[in-house]
Amino acid sequence: MLKVGLVGWRGMVGSVLMDRMRAENDFALIEPIFFTTSNVGGAAPAEAQGAPLKSAKDVDALMLMDVVITCQGGEYTAEIYPQLRGVGWKGYWIDAAKTLRMNDDAVIVLDPVNMPMIKSALFRDVKDYVGGNCTVSCMLIGLGGLFKADLIEWMTSMTYQAASGGGAAHMRELLTQYGALHAEVKSLLDDPHSAILEIDRKVLAKQRAFTAEETQNFGVPLGGNLIPWIDKDMHTGMSLEEWKGMAETNKILGRGRGFELAATPIDSLCVRVGAMRCHSQALTIKLKRDVPLADIEAIIANDNEWVRVIPNEREHSIRELTPAAVTGNMHIPVGRLRKLVMGPEYLSAFTVGDQLLWGAAEPLRRMLRILLEK
Ligand code: HSE
Repeated sequence: MLKVGLVGWRGMVGSVLMDRMRAENDFALIEPIFFTTSNVGGAAPAEAQGAPLKSAKDVDALMLMDVVITCQGGEYTAEIYPQLRGVGWKGYWIDAAKTLRMNDDAVIVLDPVNMPMIKSALFRDVKDYVGGNCTVSCMLIGLGGLFKADLIEWMTSMTYQAASGGGAAHMRELLTQYGALHAEVKSLLDDPHSAILEIDRKVLAKQRAFTAEETQNFGVPLGGNLIPWIDKDMHTGMSLEEWKGMAETNKILGRGRGFELAATPIDSLCVRVGAMRCHSQALTIKLKRDVPLADIEAIIANDNEWVRVIPNEREHSIRELTPAAVTGNMHIPVGRLRKLVMGPEYLSAFTVGDQLLWGAAEPLRRMLRILLEK
């Protein structure tokens, strides 16, 4: 059995990964060894069968692994990965963090979309497999069919990203803010005759008076607000999250720098909204040619077993195409499909994905399965 070292299994992405691995019975196929950065010698999950937690900084212990899967984050990867490779470790490194993602010798894994690239990389003895940006991965599970059919000339993505993309503390901050806003106006809400504009004024005053502690993760209020910037400033007018949209999508598809096919232009405007863990995106697509809408729906729906085409009708859209409907589910709905007034080659779409499942944990455990089947 492959010895698989798990690092960062207790954090938010790691916990979702553990749940999925248990649900799919992955642990029956591997010898799991659990590592920790904070509780060396402590009790590991039941799958360790009594073995205590090992230090995630112990390069000698990591050396013994055939595979390391880490959800510990980018700083851990930056610190430990070079040391491990430096002492000649030849195992497979499967990582959720972005640190290695754009390296020439790392593959971004999203096997329903790029299985041929993963297979070819394994054949070439590539050892580093990295999960993609959550927004990109969820979009590609939804729209992979159109990319594979080479129908997309260009695309824009306007995102509505959940608090979870920032991390667990960000989700807590969002809810704490919602609670504080509610508490501020509770007595007025309880009175059906109170004036809505007074409620509105009080909410706004409270948002503007949030302390540094109340906004320490997002920097500004997110509850009852939105934030039109995600991640670092690239100083090109783009945020890092927006840059990833084109760079990672094309790398996953085997297009652009280092590949024979030209990159597909993809541009984004990424916005944080007060959802918990589903990222939503409104897409505008310029098709390479006029394809009937029914054919487009069939191409999208038939691409993989997780995508669901949602009829472009009010009831379906408000019930099936929202973060509240999709959270915790493996399926990726794609709806609001219609041709735009700009012309028959212009398509709109809206998609929602659980950014902790397809956006983070799932591609990692599926990569492990691919290694097991190799
Ligand atoms: N960068 C994403 C976000 C999450 O902030 O929503 C991870 O891909």
